[in-house]
Amino acid sequence: MKKVIAFAGSNSQNSINKQLVTYASSLLENTEVNLLDLNNFELPVFGVDLEAEIKGQPDNAHKFLNLIRESDGILLSLAEHNGAYTAVFKNLFDWMSRIEGKTFFGKSMLLMATSPGGRGGQSVLEIAKNRFPYHDANIIETFSLPSFGDNFKDGKIVNSELNEKLSKAVNQFENQL
Ligand SMILES: Cc1cc2nc3c(=O)[nH]c(=O)nc-3n(C[C@H](O)[C@H](O)[C@H](O)COP(=O)(O)O)c2cc1C
Repeated sequence: MKKVIAFAGSNSQNSINKQLVTYASSLLENTEVNLLDLNNFELPVFGVDLEAEIKGQPDNAHKFLNLIRESDGILLSLAEHNGAYTAVFKNLFDWMSRIEGKTFFGKSMLLMATSPGGRGGQSVLEIAKNRFPYHDANIIETFSLPSFGDNFKDGKIVNSELNEKLSKAVNQFENQL
């Protein structure tokens, strides 16, 4: 059975992106999911001086990178802060990219974002969609869920059109693991 990792680019305890990525994972039919939480991979703020001082990168950056390396694919839902990555995600990304520039090892990726607003995190989604291929991500599909509070209830998407769109995206992703 194929194995994927799933996580949100957020450290919020009630992360709406974690809720979305959890739901998307539940739509996989024949794939094992390891749901990760960035709160379990605490890291100091990246800096070249700190990196020189500790002569490398912290264990948690190595651990997360190894989880990517050992997976068959990645489900990721990015939270958007001021039109871009959250600090916690960017920090992890920066640390990992210092260990391995091909940070995503050519893995298949379903890239998502949601926010309470009508744009559904489209700005951060666009940033990641343009950037991740330079780090060897194989982005199979992207999905943005706008107006989370209206469109997501009791652990699932309640807007049938959006739900159908996500189901198709998950299906495409699963077929390319
Ligand atoms: C510092 C900050 C900046 C934010 N900037 C944006 C933004 O640019 N676009 C947006 O749609 N939502 C923005 N939001 C609202 C977030 O989308 C909202 O907090 C969402 O719940 C974050 O996702 P999460 O729950 O998965 O952490 C911002 C929130 C914070 C705290």
